Amino acid sequence: MDKVRLGVIGCGHMCGAHLASLAGKQETVSEQLRPFVAQIEVRGLADIDLSKAEAYRETYGGEYVTDDPERIFQDPDIDAVLITTWHDTHAPYSLRAMECGKHVLIEKPMAMTEKECDDIVAAEERTGLKYMVAFRCRFAKGAQDVKREIPSPDNIIAHARFHSIWPETIWAQDPVKGGGQILSQGCHVVDMMLYLAGAEPESVYATGGVFHHSHPDVIDTINAAIRFKNGSVGAFLGGDGGTGNLMMHHPLPNRCPFFVMVIDKGRSAIAIDHGEDARFESCVPEEEWKPPYDSCEYGERLGKRGAGGVPDILPAFARSILKDEQPIATAVNGARTTRFILRCFESARTGEVITF
Ligand SMILES: NC(=O)c1ccc[n+]([C@@H]2O[C@H](COP(=O)([O-])OP(=O)(O)OC[C@H]3O[C@@H](n4cnc5c(N)ncnc54)[C@H](O)[C@@H]3O)[C@@H](O)[C@H]2O)c1
Repeated sequence: MDKVRLGVIGCGHMCGAHLASLAGKQETVSEQLRPFVAQIEVRGLADIDLSKAEAYRETYGGEYVTDDPERIFQDPDIDAVLITTWHDTHAPYSLRAMECGKHVLIEKPMAMTEKECDDIVAAEERTGLKYMVAFRCRFAKGAQDVKREIPSPDNIIAHARFHSIWPETIWAQDPVKGGGQILSQGCHVVDMMLYLAGAEPESVYATGGVFHHSHPDVIDTINAAIRFKNGSVGAFLGGDGGTGNLMMHHPLPNRCPFFVMVIDKGRSAIAIDHGEDARFESCVPEEEWKPPYDSCEYGERLGKRGAGGVPDILPAFARSILKDEQPIATAVNGARTTRFILRCFESARTGEVITF
């Protein structure tokens, strides 16, 4: 197999962000992944709105467009699917794709319930297909540097506060289609936190509730205290609420303060900007460890791609298929992140410490 023939389901904003790696924008793809760009071929595109699928076909090619995802699943000339639909279809489409023998690249969050998580993990194990979750922060250079330099922190502080209040009307705020801002966006930071913690969560206690929105089932604020199985501890603060430019330049370069800070006995680091950049400190006297840099400004150096790892995701998926390698974020990682957020919600609702 020297090509990955791709079917795309959901031709909206993120579909465009992923397909952009394929045409004309390869300079934003990491050097070691660039050879895989040419090995991806778009074959079919599906969307309930055909005009959106047609627009991407004009730019990226493809044999056909359809408003029926089943055509993609049953196409014997498709090896893998990219699923970038709304969240309520992520699990059913993932399961159907694997049932039809297709490798899957799924946008986050992988699933909306614990049962869906279990089913996808089981299907991934059963089929042996590659299943990758598009957790962009793992691909971002700053997050990767933090993981290399401080692989086993004793304290982890994760912050995912959106700078404005999400409009009530967007699909992602809908309890069925989206699940709200914490599940939808907080999952990036939760995944980065679990990636950088290097340990499984053992228990979580969270306070939170609905402060900025009207739907009583969509929790918009979580303040969680976490214990990890290796004895380390952490905090996750997530939600929206309208902080605007409050944290701009103090110390974050953008107004969307998504970061994970890790601390290990006097050494510390912070992955900011969806992990795109990082900063390091050491206050250990006569320390042998030298922080690799203060601020690497990857975003600047990569031409302000501001994409926090997104351009690498599709080529990395192709590589995992063609080289038979485990994807950087598997169904297990997707399940762990959804489960963590759902258990924060459960703790906030019940006032109980929830164990994993
Ligand atoms: N990684 C990131 O930074 C990032 C940013 C934004 C969105 N996302 C994720 O990407 C996914 C898509 O978000 P988006 O912003 O592109 O949304 P979008 O609304 O722009 O696009 C979704 C597309 O899916 C189509 N669709 C919906 N239900 C469908 C169905 N049942 N069958 C076929 N097509 C269907 C819609 O018509 C739409 O064109 C979500 O999982 C979202 O959380 C990720």
